[in-house]
Amino acid sequence: MAAPHPPRTDDWWRDAVIYQVYPRSFADGDGDGTGDLAGVRTRLSHLAELGVDAVWFTPWYASPMVDGGYDVADYRAIDPAFGTLDEAEKLIAEAAELGLRVIVDIVPNHVSDQHAWFREALAAGPGSPERARFHFRPGRGEHGELPPNDWPSQFSGTTWTRVPDGEWYLHLFTPEQPDLNWAHPDVRREHEDVLRFWFERGVAGVRIDSAALLTKDPELRDFTEGVDPHPYVDLDEIHDVYRSWRAIADEYGGVFVGEVWLPDAERFARYLRPDELHTAFNFNFLACPWDPERLRRTIDSTLAEHAPVHAPATWVLCNHDVTRTVTRYGREDTGFDFAAKRFGTPTDLELGTRRARAAALLTLALPGSVYLYQGEELGLPEADIPLDRIQDPMHFRSEGVDPGRDGCRVPLPWEAEAPSYGFGTGTEPWLPQPADWARYAVDRQNADPGSMLSLYRTALELRRAESALGDGALSWLPSPEGVLAFSRAEDLLCAVNLSGDPVPLPPHAAVLLASDELPADGTLPPDTAVWLRT
Ligand code: GLC
Repeated sequence: MAAPHPPRTDDWWRDAVIYQVYPRSFADGDGDGTGDLAGVRTRLSHLAELGVDAVWFTPWYASPMVDGGYDVADYRAIDPAFGTLDEAEKLIAEAAELGLRVIVDIVPNHVSDQHAWFREALAAGPGSPERARFHFRPGRGEHGELPPNDWPSQFSGTTWTRVPDGEWYLHLFTPEQPDLNWAHPDVRREHEDVLRFWFERGVAGVRIDSAALLTKDPELRDFTEGVDPHPYVDLDEIHDVYRSWRAIADEYGGVFVGEVWLPDAERFARYLRPDELHTAFNFNFLACPWDPERLRRTIDSTLAEHAPVHAPATWVLCNHDVTRTVTRYGREDTGFDFAAKRFGTPTDLELGTRRARAAALLTLALPGSVYLYQGEELGLPEADIPLDRIQDPMHFRSEGVDPGRDGCRVPLPWEAEAPSYGFGTGTEPWLPQPADWARYAVDRQNADPGSMLSLYRTALELRRAESALGDGALSWLPSPEGVLAFSRAEDLLCAVNLSGDPVPLPPHAAVLLASDELPADGTLPPDTAVWLRT
């Protein structure tokens, strides 16, 4: 097992590499086809050897799993399919022994319709205090047969569902995820208590789901395209919630990362003011196409928007909601857009993988922290899920147009020759694994110095050793058209060739790492990145 590594600074989160575990698909310890905490515990050494600093677990709480656990029935219990609270505590302690911090995922916008509060609200009836914790309203139309307003959903489809007594309730996501009323003191108190519950158990941080959606226009006014403010995205009142959360995190030395999808840089940065969230995911970078000008502009605007609030940037290429990186970069449209996902999009995986390798070195050289989604270090492609095995509500709510997000949630391959590639010991995994995934298995890649896994491991080791990488400044260097070149210190340079033609390597004393083999003629091939000692 790898030795625990000391954090580089007290502000570990300013340049941490954080690995996202989707527990359902990481490793199955009890052989029932679903990943679990027992499985994670047996595979923690993979993460320590990879060299990451922290592990973010997507929701592991009791849940009917209508939306992969983002429908939480009880925040203080682990879902029985995943294990027990006792196991979670053991996992947190074992991770700490390996130098890995744990980040949990809190979903404050909504709960499961099986959560005690919602069941009480349904039973208590219209006008009851129990209903006031949610957004219940009478319908419009002569008999209340029309939804109370016209809000668009974050998933396609309607945002209101009518209950048998005639009232409607709001859900920005599926009907099984009723939205909480954040103007209600119980809602605020409960979440503050949940934060303490997990900080008390030793977690180092909290990822905040749908962080910009909590507060709603008090009158639930209709949505009109372009009208400011939006009735539920990024309302000013939300910052008050995060200020109170920050005070709690500070008591425990915990940190936040917000899931904030906002194109407006100035509005985004408000979440990162010194008394609010420590960090937020950089979705502009995730959505950015493999294009030199667009990437450079995104990097510049990211750094510029974070600077005034002194927050570190985060760099994210994929997660459990989006198309896997090697697939996205192998397509004609290399950007990411939920609305554009379609079945059967032509993909050149070889090209995509080459670009993803270069993108890994680009990302790990940028100032700030980096998120890695499980399987990204293996170069896993997006899998095609047979129609009759799709589980993601996004697919069904789009009436079958959107393939959904299961393709990036397929159980990991650990051992090339084992059943289910070593994911579990027994039953078939909850999502089918493609027939040609042996080549991506961890054991195969461990033995291959040219594998994606070896590249990530070496890059993370270097990133840890080179104090210029991580937090700090970046300076762009003059470079041929289509090439991104920047220095992170006087003697460390990263160059990425997105030009389509080989270019001369910048002057250097030594090549520290290249995303692919470099030719002997001193050039940097297309879709290749290098770290150079100058
Ligand atoms: C976030 C999660 C996503 C989930 C949604 C609703 O976007 O990342 O997986 O479906 O919130 O909770």
